[in-house]
Amino acid sequence: MVRALVFVFLVSAAIAVLAFDRPATKPSLQTQPFGTHNGKAITLYTLTNSHGVEVRAMNYGGIIVSIRVPDRNGQLADVVLGHETLEGYIPNPPYLGAIVGRYANRIANGTFTLDGKTYTLPKNDGPNTLHGGTTRTFDRVVWDGEALKNGVAFTYLSKDGEEGFPGNLRIKVTYTLTEANELMVDYEATTDKATPINVSQHSYFNLAGEGNGDILNHEIMINADRFTPVDKNLIPTGELRPVKGTPLDFTTPTRIGARIDDKYEQLVLGHGYDHNFVINSKPNQNGMKLAARVHEPTSGRSLEVWTTQPGVQFYTGNFLDGSVVGKQGHIYKRRYGFCLETQHFPDSPNHPDFPTTILKPGETFREKTVFKFEAK
Ligand code: BGC
Repeated sequence: MVRALVFVFLVSAAIAVLAFDRPATKPSLQTQPFGTHNGKAITLYTLTNSHGVEVRAMNYGGIIVSIRVPDRNGQLADVVLGHETLEGYIPNPPYLGAIVGRYANRIANGTFTLDGKTYTLPKNDGPNTLHGGTTRTFDRVVWDGEALKNGVAFTYLSKDGEEGFPGNLRIKVTYTLTEANELMVDYEATTDKATPINVSQHSYFNLAGEGNGDILNHEIMINADRFTPVDKNLIPTGELRPVKGTPLDFTTPTRIGARIDDKYEQLVLGHGYDHNFVINSKPNQNGMKLAARVHEPTSGRSLEVWTTQPGVQFYTGNFLDGSVVGKQGHIYKRRYGFCLETQHFPDSPNHPDFPTTILKPGETFREKTVFKFEAK
């Protein structure tokens, strides 16, 4: 009897230990040191799920270093442009994989007026301020990283006056990987003075695999009936122009390369696609709108982008010029990657008609974007 009881006890103990020892329910997270910057430790966070999808991100610039996803035969490839080491990202002129802000995209003439006061920002794009300025911008500061069960949270305090912006802005960006092959990006921020804020994720995708040629054969659908045309400095004119009848009509899936070199004035100005699309506003029950769907026919990989944001900048890597040598020695040439930067409209602080980008004390800025990968 005693023996039988001991046996039962041992068996149940073994079962309990086995159950306990099983890898934490997928997805999971691992961390590893990734060097130092200005004396601060940089950590690489690796998120994985049970389908073999793997996302790596680091607390330098909140950069997504790699995203490995299967093709239709289960073959994994890294579908974002980037570097194998921290050093590769310093500097990072194309903003590969980075979080951009405090104001993603352009502010005309590096200036805006808020509550009667005029602010001047450092210019880094002809007459404009692009992606927040020149020095302590979100893509090149060290964030604090916090490992979560299936993700990582990066926080940063952007001080009052930093890069010319008003207010101490506390920002948190969280990357989470789900079992449905979604990379979720959650943004949250508060401030102690009114300030413009516009943050985005600047990954360059190539669904055939990074370094594997240009992205012109990808087919894209952009869920936008209108876009914000730009002037010669790529600043919105203020018009919301219907895409219908223009080479910016991607309301049905179309090859990126089909019309990219058309002599349409907007494509000439952008040297290709470099435009903010006004996402059609029909959110699903979670408040998310489909921004775009991209399919790469050779691999079968596809990407859907869902967001709470009003706009998406579709940028076809027109300014990549072969000067960046990325992973595995790959040379990133013109149009070797595309970005779908969900965001508010460019230069909103100077366009009172655009959805506001002003965050006030007492309010919480919240936006969310989901990158969902599939293969068929
Ligand atoms: C802009 C491009 C710019 C690129 C890299 C994109 O968000 O729209 O014009 O060249 O970022 O800075």
